[in-house]
Amino acid sequence: MVLALVFIVGSSWFYAETARAEYGDVIINNASDEAGMRPAVFPHWFHRIRFRCKVCHADLEFKFKAGGNQINMLKIIDGEFCGACHNGEIAWSVENCDVCHSGKPGTPTQVHGSTVQKLLGLPGKKK
Ligand code: HEC
Ligand code: HEC
Ligand code: HEC
Repeated sequence: MVLALVFIVGSSWFYAETARAEYGDVIINNASDEAGMRPAVFPHWFHRIRFRCKVCHADLEFKFKAGGNQINMLKIIDGEFCGACHNGEIAWSVENCDVCHSGKPGTPTQVHGSTVQKLLGLPGKKK
């Protein structure tokens, strides 16, 4: 009984977290501010409707955690993380700095609600 409850609470937490990440934008700012770049913005929903979770979270080894990956430009240019697609073939290439580095300076790493999220009335991170 207790175990079942733990499972239910645990899994609804998981789904709530998953939904938040799925529809929100991930702001990645582990290094950008320090390097004088605007934080990187990863629109999760935009990508998620184009690719399966597995492509990024298994094949490309993105950890399920905002800011939980050691991403830098050398790796991206080398074809890791964002660079697996943003290489001028699958998607536009790394020269378009501002398309990714579009966050408001000083915004910490986080998932925040996107326009899509507001339109659909989906649960988001309360701030
Ligand atoms: C496809 C998306 C994307 C594009 C395009 C992109 N970046 Fe980045 N960049 C990132 C991500 C994600 C990070 C990690 C952000 C963090 O942790 O703060 C990052 C980190 C950085 C960093 C800090 C880490 C490091 O490698 O020194 C700098 C500086 C940077 N980018 C500069 C640039 C410049 C200059 C361009 C254009 C020539 C560019 N970026 C284009 C996604 C991108
Ligand atoms: C195109 C690549 C891509 C696809 C497809 C994708 N994700 Fe993600 N996901 C990411 C990236 C990038 C992050 C942020 C990682 C970081 O900040 O280092 C992320 C973060 C997450 C997080 C953590 C958010 C948080 O709160 O910290 C969850 C959960 C997640 N994704 C679930 C999913 C699920 C479920 C699917 C499929 C329905 C999916 N993702 C599809 C790239 C992707
Ligand atoms: C699995 C492939 C894949 C990965 C990995 C990926 N992207 Fe993308 N991304 C795409 C494609 C495809 C597009 C759409 C390109 C187009 O419209 O020409 C796109 C578009 C975008 C856009 C523009 C969204 C818009 O509204 O037009 C941003 C911003 C972006 N990516 C950031 C990132 C960042 C940051 C990362 C790494 C954290 C990343 N992407 C990783 C495939 C990917």
